[in-house]
Amino acid sequence: MTINATVKEAGFRPASRISSIGVSEILKIGARAAAMKREGKPVIILGAGEPDFDTPDHVKQAASDAIHRGETKYTALDGTPELKKAIREKFQRENGLAYELDEITVATGAKQILFNAMMASLDPGDEVVIPTPYWTSYSDIVQICEGKPILIACDASSGFRLTAQKLEAAITPRTRWVLLNSPSNPSGAAYSAADYRPLLDVLLKHPHVWLLVDDMYEHIVYDAFRFVTPARLEPGLKDRTLTVNGVSKAYAMTGWRIGYAGGPRALIKAMAVVQSQATSCPSSVSQAASVAALNGPQDFLKERTESFQRRRNLVVNGLNAIEGLDCRVPEGAFYTFSGCAGVLGRVTPSGKRIESDTDFCAYLLEDSHVAVVPGSAFGLSPYFRISYATSEAELKEALERISAACKRLS
Ligand SMILES: Cc1ncc(COP(=O)(O)O)c(C=O)c1O
Repeated sequence: MTINATVKEAGFRPASRISSIGVSEILKIGARAAAMKREGKPVIILGAGEPDFDTPDHVKQAASDAIHRGETKYTALDGTPELKKAIREKFQRENGLAYELDEITVATGAKQILFNAMMASLDPGDEVVIPTPYWTSYSDIVQICEGKPILIACDASSGFRLTAQKLEAAITPRTRWVLLNSPSNPSGAAYSAADYRPLLDVLLKHPHVWLLVDDMYEHIVYDAFRFVTPARLEPGLKDRTLTVNGVSKAYAMTGWRIGYAGGPRALIKAMAVVQSQATSCPSSVSQAASVAALNGPQDFLKERTESFQRRRNLVVNGLNAIEGLDCRVPEGAFYTFSGCAGVLGRVTPSGKRIESDTDFCAYLLEDSHVAVVPGSAFGLSPYFRISYATSEAELKEALERISAACKRLS
């Protein structure tokens, strides 16, 4: 249902820039699951987009110290010098990227970074190429900024990755941006250097196209996968690449709302104009906490990733043991994106035919009290996303319930 339909009866006319945007499927499922929980049903929610770990103690301490030092006022518009320096070090240390302080921006979450970038660069009708499955905010942010999302289906057969051929075919004179996310929410798929190379070669041929890379899950990669970021791989693209990252996922700091990016000075400046009239600056206390996260010990990241990897293996193996489901092994993040084509056309015990991934997820929620998100919410069907950022015991129970639910289909 679009915003238009939802709010019309209240006598409110929404702006056309938001009128075609639907209420997020994820939020709807979450609300239904929460309502069922309140009714006393044993619902397991596998929808969370955040780590189940706590923010590290040294980060909390840094925030507390900042409060007591009186760092409770507005800060510099797009980040304190201390945080920008910590980000500059991070880019150099972990990504081999050299950014000056005025090529770095800090915002209230990576979400605001994306918003600032699109708001600062898109004219109505400008095109943004987004491979699907995508993080749901990408296309909505582009639409709010009056751009046109160009969605390119990238299914499991291409490892949920964009190919050079598809990218080349999608580029037009109106293309402003290509938006890539590795590792990906929702698929967990990541681009190796070899996967990126042909895409970067295409972009080199089209100087009017800019690249936004969302490296939010950089630290959560498994097995021997080596994370790389495009501006490092292809210096010839650095002057039209925005490298986006944040502290939310790596440091379990989703509620602190700090995201950042490195990119060309002119773009960073234009993004600051947007931010100046939206939020004035990111939270002072959260910025101090983020300095501690980026400059402090990093060894716990490995431990946490190992814990996610155990859970990834549990979920992938569990799903692939269920007839009708087919789960690719993700390289990173904390999601599986499993195919469910094998259950389409089957009939539930109450006589309802499963026609889509949305039907399948509704069946799992109503019948087995397991909340997962259909691929349709991420622009690619028939799949469903599980977030495995929850306890192994809960994951095992959920897998048993999903297996039993699939067996009950005829
Ligand atoms: C791929 C991706 N990018 C960005 C974000 C936003 O992160 P932040 O909390 O910094 O706004 C998320 C959050 O779910 C995400 O999954």
